[in-house]
Amino acid sequence: MFVGWIFLQILAFANCVSDEDFFPFGESAGDLKLPARKHAFGKVLMLNGTYSFYNTGHKQLQVYGDGIITLGKSSLSHTALKHRKFPFPPNTPSVAVFYAPIEVGKLSEVFHRETRNESVLKKATDHVRWSFTREQDFVASSVFIATWKNVIHADNRLPSKSNTFQVVLITDGQRTFSLFNYKDNGLQWIKGYHVQYQGFRFFDAQVGFSAGDQVR
Ligand SMILES: *[C@@H]1O[C@H](CO)[C@@H](O)[C@H](O)[C@H]1NC(C)=O
Ligand SMILES: *[C@@H]1O[C@H](CO)[C@@H](O)[C@H](O)[C@H]1NC(C)=O
Repeated sequence: MFVGWIFLQILAFANCVSDEDFFPFGESAGDLKLPARKHAFGKVLMLNGTYSFYNTGHKQLQVYGDGIITLGKSSLSHTALKHRKFPFPPNTPSVAVFYAPIEVGKLSEVFHRETRNESVLKKATDHVRWSFTREQDFVASSVFIATWKNVIHADNRLPSKSNTFQVVLITDGQRTFSLFNYKDNGLQWIKGYHVQYQGFRFFDAQVGFSAGDQVR
């Protein structure tokens, strides 16, 4: 179903889960929201934790409605975004959770926050320890959570289909893990951008990591 990019250096795990297994999200959890529109994006956020990605520690991050987040100061080009001429892979360090033309519709919400809430840190620590047997000493110190709830395809070709997914970046200040949660039966469309990469054409949403240097 998905075309993975380049899974290097960042350690990732993906789950198909029910609502309750998502990390807590929503305004009641203290989340900020992206504006409701096509190809929405948030501000560059200053983070308290350091999130390492391809050997670079980042303290800035930006969330896009299009199912992707970028790390560091530079953004994806908004003109490119609007005209769907994405450089592929993006020329900015990025984590694609479900990278596709997305509209944050009337019934959709895109949430994000960084947190040091103890119960969230504990859940994150537990997840890393379960998933990686060599990480029994890992202790999360900061977590960044972005959640796309009921987002729809930007061309409105499938108006009754919506997707719900989440990424959790978990750091101990040195190493970063990312957890992708896709809601059970909560991925109802997969159409992506029409992109060409190394001679192949991809039509479905993309999932994975890019160092932003066109190599990794
Ligand atoms: C960073 O920490 C400061 C002080 O604890 C807090 O006010 C601020 O909201 C935090 N920022 C983020 C992005 O969590
Ligand atoms: C931490 O998060 C949990 C789950 O969202 C919440 O119930 C609790 O009130 C939060 N604690 C603090 C101190 O914000």
